[in-house]
Amino acid sequence: MKNIVVFASGSGSNFQAVIEAAESGKIDCSITGLITNKKSVGAIEKAGKAGIPFKIMNPSEYRNPNEYAKALSIQLEKWQPDLVVLAGYLAKIPASIIRRYRDQIINIHPSLLPKYGGKGYYGERVHKAVLEAGETQSGCTVHFVNEVYDDGPIIAQKKVKVYPDDTPKTLAARILKEEHKLLPSVIQKILNQK
Ligand code: GRF
Repeated sequence: MKNIVVFASGSGSNFQAVIEAAESGKIDCSITGLITNKKSVGAIEKAGKAGIPFKIMNPSEYRNPNEYAKALSIQLEKWQPDLVVLAGYLAKIPASIIRRYRDQIINIHPSLLPKYGGKGYYGERVHKAVLEAGETQSGCTVHFVNEVYDDGPIIAQKKVKVYPDDTPKTLAARILKEEHKLLPSVIQKILNQK
C-alpha cells in the first residue's frame, strides 16, 4: 500500500475528504501523517479522530529556515510518503523538500489556475478577485508543486458556474464541494501510476 502525508493549516475539510476516501477504499493508501504549522486547527482534530499521527511544525519556531527544512525532512523520512498532499497549507515548502520530492507533492487551489493564483491569493481573497473581475466561471485546480506558489504543472481542474448574486462565501462553498471530489480522485490516479 502507498503512503501519503497531508499538510494542512486550516479547517481540514479537504483532509477529511481524503481520510474518508481512504477509509472507504476509494483511495488505496495509508495516511501516515499530518503536518500543520498551526496549533489549534480543525485539521488536527480530524487527524486525532481518524487516529492519524500529526506534527505541528511552525517555521517561525525554528532558529532558521535550514533548521526547519531539516526537521521537516527528518519527519517525512519517518512517514515515507509516496505522495505529499498540500490541502490548504499556508506556509512555504522549503526548496530542498521540493527537490527531494520532485513530482511527488501536489496542491489544491480554489481557482482555475493560472488565474487567481500566486502570492496573496488564498482563502476568500481568491473568490473576491474572481467576482470583482466579473468572471462567469471559476473552479478548482490540483497541480504539482514547484518552487513558485501555485505555478507547477496542472493535473486536473473542475469548473463551476459563478452566479450574479454570488458572494465570496457562496462561491467558496460551491467550489469546496468540488474540491472534496477532485482531490481524492487525483490522489488515486497518481498512486495508481506509481
Ligand atoms: C481550500 O479551498 C483549498 O483549495 C485551499 O485552502 C482551502 C482549504 O480548505 N488551498 P480546508 O481546510 O480543506 O477546508
